[in-house]
Amino acid sequence: MSSIPSNPTLATPTDGGPAALVELMRAFQARSEAALARWLPEATVAPGHLHEAMRYAVLGGGKRVRPLLVYLTGTALGVPAQALDAPATAVELIHAYSLVHDDLPAMDDDDLRRGRPTCHRAFDEATAIIAADALQALAFHVLASDRHMLVGADQRLAMVDALAQAAGSRGMCAGQALDLAAVGRQLTLPELENMHIHKTGALIRASVRLGVLSAPQLDERVAERLDHYAKCIGLAFQVHDDILDVEGATETIGKPQGSDEARNKPTYPNLLGLAAAKEVARDLYDDAVGSVAVLGAAGEPLRELAAYIVRRDR
Ligand code: IPE
Ligand code: IPE
Ligand code: MG
Ligand code: MG
Ligand code: MG
Repeated sequence: MSSIPSNPTLATPTDGGPAALVELMRAFQARSEAALARWLPEATVAPGHLHEAMRYAVLGGGKRVRPLLVYLTGTALGVPAQALDAPATAVELIHAYSLVHDDLPAMDDDDLRRGRPTCHRAFDEATAIIAADALQALAFHVLASDRHMLVGADQRLAMVDALAQAAGSRGMCAGQALDLAAVGRQLTLPELENMHIHKTGALIRASVRLGVLSAPQLDERVAERLDHYAKCIGLAFQVHDDILDVEGATETIGKPQGSDEARNKPTYPNLLGLAAAKEVARDLYDDAVGSVAVLGAAGEPLRELAAYIVRRDR
């Protein structure tokens, strides 16, 4: 049975739980927000409307789970936070772009995101599409040009490649294509797992990989264990997202509850039932925690983040 603490140590990354860890997570969320705000062009810079839409899509919302993974992985390996700002920013920019496109009428057609009108609702569809395109390009600019990373050109290139592959047609975009092709169909469990591994898992896996690649010295055994951790929590994250679509409240999750059902999306609760879907998430959590043991006490924040991922209410 699951070993998730019955009294979750992190109800959200910013409230509940052990004070030191909550403080650490809050600090990294704030750090991520500040880094994103620095890299995003100001709305006063031309083309102002486009930059305003980009800032709207990224800033002032979101749990920043992917940046947290970069920071918590990197710092567990001894990397200073300043050297993690760029990879944390890059992965969140890709994530934010994916949300803008995911919400478009041609995709999930949702009006609410992070408790506010979706980008295409607040602006217009064309602006939202271009803003998301530009967020994706900015992500790679950040990784290629940041001056605070500690690693040499080879490892920086490996980071660019890891993010590109995770975002591309054999990563997240594959998952989104599978998701759209699956509308109204009943998938088998392996098909559903494959879709989730790609649409959400790939970027979460890349977040941990970017943290690992930020360390000048790589220990292959540790890297392999952390990759396994990332695969487990990546799938668990989307399984729990599916559960929140059923059980969450729109005001809490900040996006329309019931969107999957309304759009006839295959999901874990829909295929297995809620109880079995929760068990899948718990088993993945257990597996993730087993892998992160390789870090000893330094892995504690990553364990807590895994617990948060399967307990969160938003
Ligand atoms: C939502 O991601 C989309 C999925 C991949 C499930 P998050 O739940 O991380 O969304 P934000 O960034 O916190 O808004
Ligand atoms: C989104 O999956 C995955 C990506 C954006 C790549 P969902 O469509 O389930 O995400 P939400 O529920 O709209 O956040
Ligand atoms: Mg979607
Ligand atoms: Mg969606
Ligand atoms: Mg969802």
